[in-house]
Amino acid sequence: MAAVLRPLGGLRRANGVRGAHRGATLGPSSWRCIEPRRGFQSAPPQTKVPDFAFAFDIDGVLLRSSTPIPSARSALLHLQSQCIPFILLTNGGGKTEAERIEDLSNKLDIELDTSLLVQSHTPFAELTHLHSKTVLVAGGDGSKCAEVARSYGFENVVTPADILIAHPEVWPFARNFLDYYSSFARPLPPAEPLKVDAIFVYNDPRDWGLDSTILLDLLLSSKGVLGTLSPKNGNATLPNNGYLQDSQPHLYYSNPDLWWASAHPLPRLGQGGFQHSFAGLWDKVTNGAELKHTVIGKPSQATYEFAERRLRARRKTLFGAPGLNNPLRKVYMVGDNPESDIRGSNAYDSPYGSQWRSLLVKTGVFSGIRGDEAPEYARPDALVQNVGEAVKWALRDSGWESKTEKE
Ligand code: G3P
Ligand code: MG
Repeated sequence: MAAVLRPLGGLRRANGVRGAHRGATLGPSSWRCIEPRRGFQSAPPQTKVPDFAFAFDIDGVLLRSSTPIPSARSALLHLQSQCIPFILLTNGGGKTEAERIEDLSNKLDIELDTSLLVQSHTPFAELTHLHSKTVLVAGGDGSKCAEVARSYGFENVVTPADILIAHPEVWPFARNFLDYYSSFARPLPPAEPLKVDAIFVYNDPRDWGLDSTILLDLLLSSKGVLGTLSPKNGNATLPNNGYLQDSQPHLYYSNPDLWWASAHPLPRLGQGGFQHSFAGLWDKVTNGAELKHTVIGKPSQATYEFAERRLRARRKTLFGAPGLNNPLRKVYMVGDNPESDIRGSNAYDSPYGSQWRSLLVKTGVFSGIRGDEAPEYARPDALVQNVGEAVKWALRDSGWESKTEKE
């Protein structure tokens, strides 16, 4: 069964992220690097505008669950002291950017702000054509992902919990958890029956059974109307045997990671695990029909383009006009997962002309000895012990710091 991935066209249309970092509080680190303007005495002059920057993965590079990884804090502080721009580019999510960045600032004991952060679902904010539609948002703890979607501007958000509490028979095996779900579920929209216009998985589903059932119901429905079955399903005279031929809602995933580096010593299944599980269900239920869907997150081109736009905006904030005269030429992507961080950086074709170099650390998902165990497409430009070593390697490679300078 072939899953046809289609680029997230909506991401390319809009220029800036709306809503995702609304109310970003740019702390002192945001102006320390700007040339002092007349009367603007406190900013020291920025002698050199670096033509390079960094993109750091989070899980397995900066943190293992809640525990900072050695050298992470000192590496970021060093870059901040040198006015070298960086962003945090994660396939994680499940909370608003404001909540996540506060969490990261506290755990790493370093000043960060939301303009630095790209989470798996952050680019969904750009799908403004869906903001007024009814969307299902699955995954994450409680109603947190619904809160994230609303913070992006989505006005009519429904969760699997809302559907379960309104129709407990939809997934009979959740009857032992109704107290949990009713603690955060909201009433369904008044219009009956419920019609869903798009399906999003924002973060790792906590109940694969419930979420798979709801996704199947909607993808087999007529026009996204819950509780219906399209009469076209299984009609061999139609394309795709009649499946997904009846204006069913499009399915958007935010993160393809099969594995991720948590507090457990071995990598744990990520949202990609759910996607493969659901693909198996869909294949069996439809006898091999295609599941058209979109997956963003690393290694997708769409997410890397979104991240570079965020990095360029960051640079403009830090340097103002001088930055514009010194174009961004190189980005060092530091990651722990060859299949997402390294593969994405290696494959990324920048529309802005920057070159991305991939650095693989040994503090997360990667468990090999040499970087060449990974398939060619996921082999890093450099294999290093940890993020501190990655930054040192990059500062030498960029010529910013000579080999002799402090090791
Ligand atoms: O759910 C988080 C996981 O998929 C990986 O996160 O930060 O390593 O991209 P990160
Ligand atoms: Mg990682």
